[in-house]
Amino acid sequence: MQVQELVDLKPFNTMAVAAKARYFTTIKTETDVREALAWAKAHDVKTFVLGGGANLLMTTEVVDRLVMRMAISGLEVVGETEVATYVKVGAGEDWHTTVDRLISMGYGGLENLALIPGTVGASVVQNIGAYGAEVAQRVKEIEVYNPATQEIEAMRAEECDFAYRHSIFKDDGYADLVVVSVTFELPKVWTPNLSYKELTHQVEGLEAVTPRDVFNAVVAVRSRKLPDPKDLGSAGSFFKNPVVDHDQFLALLEKFPSIVHYDVGGGYQKLAAGWMIDQAGLKGYRIGDAGTYEKQALVLVNHGQASGQELWQFAQMVQAKVLEKFGVALEPEPVIL
Ligand code: EPU
Repeated sequence: MQVQELVDLKPFNTMAVAAKARYFTTIKTETDVREALAWAKAHDVKTFVLGGGANLLMTTEVVDRLVMRMAISGLEVVGETEVATYVKVGAGEDWHTTVDRLISMGYGGLENLALIPGTVGASVVQNIGAYGAEVAQRVKEIEVYNPATQEIEAMRAEECDFAYRHSIFKDDGYADLVVVSVTFELPKVWTPNLSYKELTHQVEGLEAVTPRDVFNAVVAVRSRKLPDPKDLGSAGSFFKNPVVDHDQFLALLEKFPSIVHYDVGGGYQKLAAGWMIDQAGLKGYRIGDAGTYEKQALVLVNHGQASGQELWQFAQMVQAKVLEKFGVALEPEPVIL
């Protein structure tokens, strides 16, 4: 394990923010994790595990931490039953490439989550979701390095407290667990999840829909709606879709009859944050190089030279406008560092 100083992180975050890591190391093995954490402890430095940097906004010029870039690789079939195949994947593997490879190997189940930027490790921390699916539905087990015991420990999916864009790995007391691998449970009898209208349209006319067809459909829909981080810096949706109770929802519905909402049970409604930002007149809005995407107001973009601080100020302006118009507080989805 090698530690470098003042490493430029611009290539390592999809928002393309220019920031430097005070200390930086690349993690390729479980031993690297152990050594990096020991180094950080000895030097009294906090750590930060960096995946694909696709869900991150750095607001300072120097991140005063040991940034551990997760690069543990590997993909292997580790077991099967009559109904499922189990595939273990290293935390540093690229998410989209993994979904693509699995489909080529004959394993469907993750296709609705195609083209999401980031790594396999981050996919579970964030519980990524799109087009009617969440990664948690396909997770069997997660291996983590636990600094308290200095051991690799296996956690079953049920222990991970998965919820909308949430896992136990975001909670205080668990955030220092380092995910090193994820084992997916992929169904032997596959059925397409076409609950999202746009996907149904995309596969219309096909005789027998395959995982590859759904994968291609998702790629097509996402490419139409969301910016490619290679062309335009972004971290995907910048805010979570907020959940409100029945009373607040009825009051909102009365004032805004066309408000976009989804029933999430228990009397709660999830609101489309993108719709609210759009209604607040902020779709495609821009201050300097910080802005919202012209085709999806929920996506904050860096038109080139916006600093992390400028993007964060822009995000706070969006929060204030939505709060003023709808009385709803938006919570950022990415990690703000
Ligand atoms: N809408 C507008 N104007 C906008 C944006 C959206 O009116 O500028 C409306 C749309 O017309 C639609 C509704 O708001 O009726 C919801 O929009 P969309 O279907 O694009 O989905 P979303 O709720 O904005 C969520 C996820 C995305 C995921 C899509 C598809 C969150 C925070 N975001 O977006 O995830 O791809 O659904 O399932 O839950 C991500 O997390 O980074 C991400 C891209």
